Amino acid sequence: MAEARTAERAAQGEGHPSGDERFALLDKTLRKARYQQDQLIEVLHVAQDLFGHLSEDILIYLARQLKLPPSRVYGVATFYHLFSFTAPGRHSATVCMGTACFVKGAEEIVQQLEAAHDVRSGQTTEDGELTVSTARCVGSCGLAPVVVVDGVVTSHQTAESTLAHVGEVLAKEPTEAST
Ligand code: FES
Repeated sequence: MAEARTAERAAQGEGHPSGDERFALLDKTLRKARYQQDQLIEVLHVAQDLFGHLSEDILIYLARQLKLPPSRVYGVATFYHLFSFTAPGRHSATVCMGTACFVKGAEEIVQQLEAAHDVRSGQTTEDGELTVSTARCVGSCGLAPVVVVDGVVTSHQTAESTLAHVGEVLAKEPTEAST
């Protein structure tokens, strides 16, 4: 049985047809985990670290490698809020939704960001420029409401100040297409 699996893998070749070397690194993790199905969560973490998110392609690849039904892999991945399913944008705005930030208007900030950039929280704009997300308390409650833009904490935000700041960040680096 195990030999059949190994033979099948050899026939398929290591890595992914795309040639993306990150799949080769993922294979390394799979080998280390001995293709054990109970290592799925660990492998999902590694995949997210490598790719920044878990695309459908990655989830199907892992299902095949671990001989699990794709529905099982999807089920586990979507159960945990740590996993992201869309590619991160070039810029990010994460609104803290912890209690201190929430009572000071964080929800309004999220809504305005979503409306202004036509994107839902947890997703990336179609042009791949901005990912909007929310987080639990980021540990700076005295600065509430807090928005983390490209990894930098901005304090005492309003919807207006956040939109202005995010707009500046997006404008600073023109895309290659526009240069
Ligand atoms: S609740 Fe937002 S930083 Fe603590």
